[in-house]
Amino acid sequence: MTADSLPSVGDVVELDIADQAYGPDSVARLNGIAVFVPDTAPGDRVRARITEVHKRYLRARVVSILRESSKRVPYNCPIAHQCGGCQWQYLAYDEQLRAKERAVRDALVRIGGWADPDVRAIIASPREWRYRNKARYWVETAGDQRRIGYYARSGDAVVPIETCPLNMDGVDTTLTTVGRLIASETHRDVAESLESVIARESLGSGEKAVRLILRREVPVRAFAEALMREVPALVGVTYNRAGRNAMRRDRVVVGSGTLTEYVGALEYRVSVDSFFQINPFATPLLVDVVREAAALDGVESVLDAYGGVGLFGVALAERASRVTLVEADRSAANDARRIFSKRGIDSATVYERSVDDMGDLPGGVDVIVCDPPRQGAGRDGIAALNRHGAYRLVYVACDPTALARDSAILRDAGWNLHWARPIDLFPQTYHVETVALFERR
Ligand SMILES: C[S@@+](CC[C@H](N)C(=O)[O-])C[C@H]1O[C@@H](n2cnc3c(N)ncnc32)[C@H](O)[C@@H]1O
Repeated sequence: MTADSLPSVGDVVELDIADQAYGPDSVARLNGIAVFVPDTAPGDRVRARITEVHKRYLRARVVSILRESSKRVPYNCPIAHQCGGCQWQYLAYDEQLRAKERAVRDALVRIGGWADPDVRAIIASPREWRYRNKARYWVETAGDQRRIGYYARSGDAVVPIETCPLNMDGVDTTLTTVGRLIASETHRDVAESLESVIARESLGSGEKAVRLILRREVPVRAFAEALMREVPALVGVTYNRAGRNAMRRDRVVVGSGTLTEYVGALEYRVSVDSFFQINPFATPLLVDVVREAAALDGVESVLDAYGGVGLFGVALAERASRVTLVEADRSAANDARRIFSKRGIDSATVYERSVDDMGDLPGGVDVIVCDPPRQGAGRDGIAALNRHGAYRLVYVACDPTALARDSAILRDAGWNLHWARPIDLFPQTYHVETVALFERR
């Protein structure tokens, strides 16, 4: 297609949707150029209005569906079209899995530069709905109106949510109760200063917790006590400040600031402001794959980098001679120390520091587990990990693109990709977890 023959913004075109991209959109081709279209499934034929024109790709929105793909299923939520919370509800679960597995392979080939990576069959989530143990809703006040929910896809307003079919029941009812309380005049001050609310629920213990994130500090005790009365099994309410004013740790308003989580037989007492995996139905499967990749035989020394509260470190400790956990967040690092100590794991050491600046660690490292945040470990993180002379590296990634970028850095540093296994921790969204095993050449 030449620049002259590109359509213009506002033009309506007919498109055959060819594939699901990694992200919220599917892809069609218009005279050879890619057109990204949200809310469509491979096999759809649609009329779509062009919304953006770029040199190498276009974006469009559906005007009408001319032929529905067999891969479609009915939406499970009345606000799915507006809400930015999930993107793939209309895709049959099998098709979601297929697309995620392919996204991991594509990223490793195109971005990672691996010719024919061994991407093993994706592991499905045991639950497709009501799997989230944590949700953060945003609060918006307009006059006397208060909205609590996720941001709209357009990003400009909060879409009020009565129930989200991805949340575990306790998360859902807790947030509904918060919504009801902030709508009442009694808690006006709290409502007006609330930026967002995070509800957590432990699958194993049934405990729930609420974190209030405040734009400005106001007394929240009466509000927290009202929540404690109304939400069964709520163990506590904490608060923190929004954005740049955030404190390193939440302050407890009432009750406790920790939840007890279980992964199989392992117990983790987790502060409400520490990271923990959000799909407790699939987390044990993730831990199993990490165990398989680490392939410990009891004598290895393990580095759990970006270790959080020690999900992997604790699970691997029984087959390791020593575990060293490096975690930047104070709350998670403190939790990890307590969890190792409660389990009587004397061979574990926890360092509260950034992986990038972790420097030398006492003793050698044989096996690294590396589970960085979404953006990946990057050059500095990988350089820091690489200096420890380990021969096996288990990379756990929640973004295939970051995994692929880091995999290329690892290759340059002398590592080979052995295999990768996607795991669906996030049904109904395009997100996918991957465990990738690297071995030193
Ligand atoms: C995806 S979570 C993984 C945590 C843990 N492996 C788990 O599965 O529960 C990433 C963790 O890395 C921590 N983190 C982020 N940047 C870091 C850095 N530069 N150095 C060390 N830890 C970091 C975060 O606080 C978070 O706990």
